[in-house]
Amino acid sequence: MRDGHRRPPTDKGISMNKTATLTIDGKSYELPVVIGTENEVGIDISQLRSMTGCITLDDSYANTGSCQSAVTFIDGEKGILRYRGYPIEELAEKSNFVEVAYLLIFGELPNTKQLAEFRSLLMEHEFIHEDLRNHFEGFPPSAHPMAILSAMMNAMGCYQPDLLQPAEDTHFVDAAARIMSKVRTIAAASYKKSIGYPMMYPRPDLPYVPNFLHMMFSKPNAPYEPSPEVVAALNLLLIMHADHEQNCSTSTVRMVGSSLANLYASVAAGICALWGRLHGGANQAVVQMLLGIQQSGEDLKSYVAKVKDKKSNIRLMGFGHRVYKNFDPRSRIIKGACDKVLAQLGIRDPLLDIAKQLEEIALSDPYFLERKLYPNVDFYSGIILRAIGIPVDMFPVMFAIGRMPGWIAHWREVHLSPNPRIYRPRQIYIGSPMRHYTPMEQRQ
Ligand code: CMC
Repeated sequence: MRDGHRRPPTDKGISMNKTATLTIDGKSYELPVVIGTENEVGIDISQLRSMTGCITLDDSYANTGSCQSAVTFIDGEKGILRYRGYPIEELAEKSNFVEVAYLLIFGELPNTKQLAEFRSLLMEHEFIHEDLRNHFEGFPPSAHPMAILSAMMNAMGCYQPDLLQPAEDTHFVDAAARIMSKVRTIAAASYKKSIGYPMMYPRPDLPYVPNFLHMMFSKPNAPYEPSPEVVAALNLLLIMHADHEQNCSTSTVRMVGSSLANLYASVAAGICALWGRLHGGANQAVVQMLLGIQQSGEDLKSYVAKVKDKKSNIRLMGFGHRVYKNFDPRSRIIKGACDKVLAQLGIRDPLLDIAKQLEEIALSDPYFLERKLYPNVDFYSGIILRAIGIPVDMFPVMFAIGRMPGWIAHWREVHLSPNPRIYRPRQIYIGSPMRHYTPMEQRQ
């Protein structure tokens, strides 16, 4: 292991010799009970099919623990989020994105030497291969930057064949830094491509976040110097997005990684999963919703009424969460930062007022209270991104840059599992029973 970049713990959960009894057709089976560090209780059904011939059915996995993980803890009832045990509120106040990324990937906060080494690797890997820059030419100007990002991450794997299977810890810090560094270069390049401006080379003198902002906003004839407030705001947003246990994209990365697909392919799949409006695409959808309301001048109460009407097929974007049934701590932090950042930058954004009023209306409405729907991470994040100058269709890309350390940490956890097995759920088949091939002339 290079300079003590530690292996994350992958111990089995604590089994308290408790069991759960399942009775099927009068026959009882004892199933082990697994208890996590924070006393989360799971019934271990890994032997269920061999014992009983049955499987469990849990459409959309709301009740299924797909793995044991030591990366992130969420208590959705209490609104708690911790990375490697550290409360998100403390990390938001005291840390920065690069340090949090190291924590997530390697399990511990870095010491001075480890952080310096990680930062220097991020700098070393900030360029993309010159040939890779030509790949951008193949996309139409209208291409969504998430499509470009996913395709380019996969393509990038072709340029680093030596790092495709970084089983050794000594290589892993390098692989992690490579991906984290280059995703930011690709993201900024895809934006430049979309507006027809020359791609900017990274600047080795700049830390992670200012370097990204430079590649996004500098022009060959006009360098961009971000203010400390903008850098701090982006650091905060990236920390907020850095991991969220078994969400859709992270589960995808783990699923793809479990087939022993390489890290690039796995995170490329994660980017695709993140893109959807119900997941990382929600930040874009929220701002589009707020802009729509602003432009139409629609009364907010009537908009909320539409949202509650199932026939309208409209959701209040940025509201609700599969796990949080109280409040999303990230949303509180980001909402608090919104006022501060906008004041610091001297910006008055009418969308923030609309968002706050929508929240107030929703949180006093039984529809939202009964269903425990609260603002999630995406409700206010777009307001800060807009203030920084990030275009709306780049919002999910910003989420992807933030989520990268989480994906890397989970991919690594899958690979370091003491019992590695391909992820392969089962199903209850409800299709046609067995039938025989019908020749063409007999078909209807
Ligand atoms: N607006 C209106 N109704 C909602 C909303 C919403 N945003 N979210 C859930 N509901 C209703 C839903 O219609 C259902 O009502 P009923 O019981 O009458 O059928 C009930 O609340 C439960 O909803 P669900 O769809 O079963 O909840 P879920 O856990 O499957 O979905 C969610 C979670 C986040 C996909 C959903 O709340 C949603 O679509 N929210 C809007 C999109 C969004 O903001 N996504 C970002 C999520 S957080 C960041 C991330 O993961 O990327």
